[in-house]
Amino acid sequence: MSGNEKLRVRALGRVYGEGAQAVTALQDVDLTVRESEFVMIVGPSGCGKTTLINIIGGLDEQTSGEVLLDGKPVCAPGADRGMVFQGYSLFPWLTVQKNVEFGLKMKKVPAAERAQRAKEYIDLVGLGGFENALPRQLSGGMKQRAAIARTLANEPEVLLMDEPFGALDAQTRVVMQELLAGISRKKHPTILFITHDIDEAVLLGDRIYVMSRRPGTIRDVIEVDIPGERNHHSLVRPEFIAVKEKIMEMLWQESMDAASGR
Ligand SMILES: Nc1ncnc2c1ncn2[C@@H]1O[C@H](COP(=O)(O)OP(=O)(O)OP(=O)(O)O)[C@@H](O)[C@H]1O
Ligand SMILES: [Mg+2]
Repeated sequence: MSGNEKLRVRALGRVYGEGAQAVTALQDVDLTVRESEFVMIVGPSGCGKTTLINIIGGLDEQTSGEVLLDGKPVCAPGADRGMVFQGYSLFPWLTVQKNVEFGLKMKKVPAAERAQRAKEYIDLVGLGGFENALPRQLSGGMKQRAAIARTLANEPEVLLMDEPFGALDAQTRVVMQELLAGISRKKHPTILFITHDIDEAVLLGDRIYVMSRRPGTIRDVIEVDIPGERNHHSLVRPEFIAVKEKIMEMLWQESMDAASGR
């Protein structure tokens, strides 16, 4: 389903602080995401994954290199990039419906169209019937469904997700992964998704970038060539485990190198 190049990160670097206190979070990061592609990033804790996605989202600024969306440099947040974080980031005083409509209202989409589009995405994430609920009346999984609906309703060019299911329990996480895989098959959004969870990476990704420990750079990229629909049954299949082992080995190597100070 993947088409033209949508997002390109070129020779990206980020140094925090100066002098003896300087921390190089990212160094020479190169990656691409094609249209309708589901791309994952895995890497050791602290390797710069959040820094990378924040720079792509325009929430942080690189010290070198560039981020191109449809060939144009990005340097500030914009509606063309929709972000979903681990925290649910809903407005607590607005209902699910109003939360999902929020971005559309900002874009001055007329009220009737706004309501209809919000409803479509609320149904898509399986929250039909909860339109008038407030965030505090929802479970963690439901809040994250609402946050995803809100981001998708804006129809961004690319969806940037930083461990969106990281705070959910294991069962809810699998349900959410399958939900997102289903949305991906139905709507073909372009997604860049960060995770710690190797199962999640292999379950969802068309391609997986593996980052090195800090200073974070791309260590390898893996094409996930598992035919058919992936779901929780896939987790125990040999071809799934083979990809998983490859990634585990790389991350293990990174931790060993870190421990031995190499
Ligand atoms: N605003 C900041 N100021 C100074 N250092 C920072 C800042 N943000 C991040 N860092 C440093 O940059 C490095 C990368 O952090 P980042 O949060 O991007 O890692 P991460 O891969 O997302 O980690 P995790 O897997 O734990 O979420 C860390 O060493 C962190 O301390
Ligand atoms: Mg992070």
